[in-house]
Amino acid sequence: MTRSPSSRPLKARRSGGLRGTAMVPGDKSISHRALILGALAVGETAITGLLEAEDVLNTADAMRAFGAQVFRAGPGAWTVSGTGVGGWGEPDDVLDFGNSGTGSRLVMGAMATTPITAVFTGDSSLRGRPMARVLDPLRHFGAAYTSRARGLMPVTLTGAAQPIAVDHRVAVASAQVKSAMLLAALGAAGRSRIVQDELTRDHTEKMLAAFGAEIEVEALAKGEAVHVTGQAELKPCAVDVPRDPSSAAFALVAALIVPGSDVRIPAVLLNPRRTGLITTLREMGAYIAVENERESGGESIGDLVVRSSMLKGVEVPPGRAPSMIDEYPILAVAAAFAEGRTVMRGLEELRVKESDRLAAIAAGLKANGLSTGETHDSLTVEGRGADGVPGGGRVTTHMDHRIAMCFLCMGLAARDAVSVDDTAMIATSFPEFEKLMRDLGADFQAVNT
Ligand code: S3P
Repeated sequence: MTRSPSSRPLKARRSGGLRGTAMVPGDKSISHRALILGALAVGETAITGLLEAEDVLNTADAMRAFGAQVFRAGPGAWTVSGTGVGGWGEPDDVLDFGNSGTGSRLVMGAMATTPITAVFTGDSSLRGRPMARVLDPLRHFGAAYTSRARGLMPVTLTGAAQPIAVDHRVAVASAQVKSAMLLAALGAAGRSRIVQDELTRDHTEKMLAAFGAEIEVEALAKGEAVHVTGQAELKPCAVDVPRDPSSAAFALVAALIVPGSDVRIPAVLLNPRRTGLITTLREMGAYIAVENERESGGESIGDLVVRSSMLKGVEVPPGRAPSMIDEYPILAVAAAFAEGRTVMRGLEELRVKESDRLAAIAAGLKANGLSTGETHDSLTVEGRGADGVPGGGRVTTHMDHRIAMCFLCMGLAARDAVSVDDTAMIATSFPEFEKLMRDLGADFQAVNT
């Protein structure tokens, strides 16, 4: 396991058919949660398939700083011995979450109902991302914070001394905010009710149940309410992390757009709140088969088989955004190789990801000869067909791993090579990306600076 190398540009060139099996790494969302819930449980949690990427390693470091014992037994195999809900100690130094919004926001929630103080920071991308969306709701439990202007990190958070249950409606379509509230509710006296209008990913709810929390999900006319009983004791749990559909998305779309491709991606998480990309690509005409669909650790998983396909443009409904929020960059690349126009709406949350992703995607498409339209919450891509994407551009990644990976995939099927200004940050989520894609047949070339 190594931390990322220094900044490194890379060029992707038109490649022959991609073929083989792509074993993508463990799911990032579930990996963060496994470490955090392990640290909140009493006793030893064993994790297999953990994503060993920078974002998750920073969460592991944070858990150690709060007093949990976290060990790596082998590749992807980790144990966490937790100190229990309310049992975290005060970190003796600043917690650096690197690039990770998920790690930092979930941990804010998990400590907000324990009377300790912690200082949160991250890299320049994370220090520019909104934290008030989590910190303000956490005040309802009695937590207090100070931050830079507009809720930016560094943030100092002091957990509530006598936290009480809340009845709260989450204002944004964010699983991170919902999850932070659910984790905070664990430490509060009484039963909290957290309502969300949109159905965002539900890993926290499922995993809390597996760790023995008293949790109930109530369907509402719009969205759902999650009830959590606080001051509970979490029991350790064996977590087998499924493979990440958001990482699989890159090999998947690359196989669709590079002619002559046939790729298998085994054991991918197929939680219905994460599969919006597959639904959309199938509407576009993609050949994506799911084989061996099965249950693993309370989640459904399956093997994806993908073959190059002629795609057509579609309208992606805004209500689908939460189930594919991280997949719009790579969907935009698929749309570039489709016949006709693709319109994606309901994308306002893309403005506050690792970069302003909406702007970064549009700029990258334009740099590669494509016509796009951008509003505050929508993106239109004029598809150029399977063989019509000019390429030849140099893409600015803004420290955003998904922007780097999606445009490298574009270069594998564009007429001229596509280069990205940096690939170092890919290690935040998918350190094996370059090797895995090369093994399938991707032509990536180093760029001299
Ligand atoms: C995540 C939720 C999403 C997603 C992120 C992971 C999670 O963020 O973009 O990569 O694990 O809860 P938001 O909840 O802010 O949309």
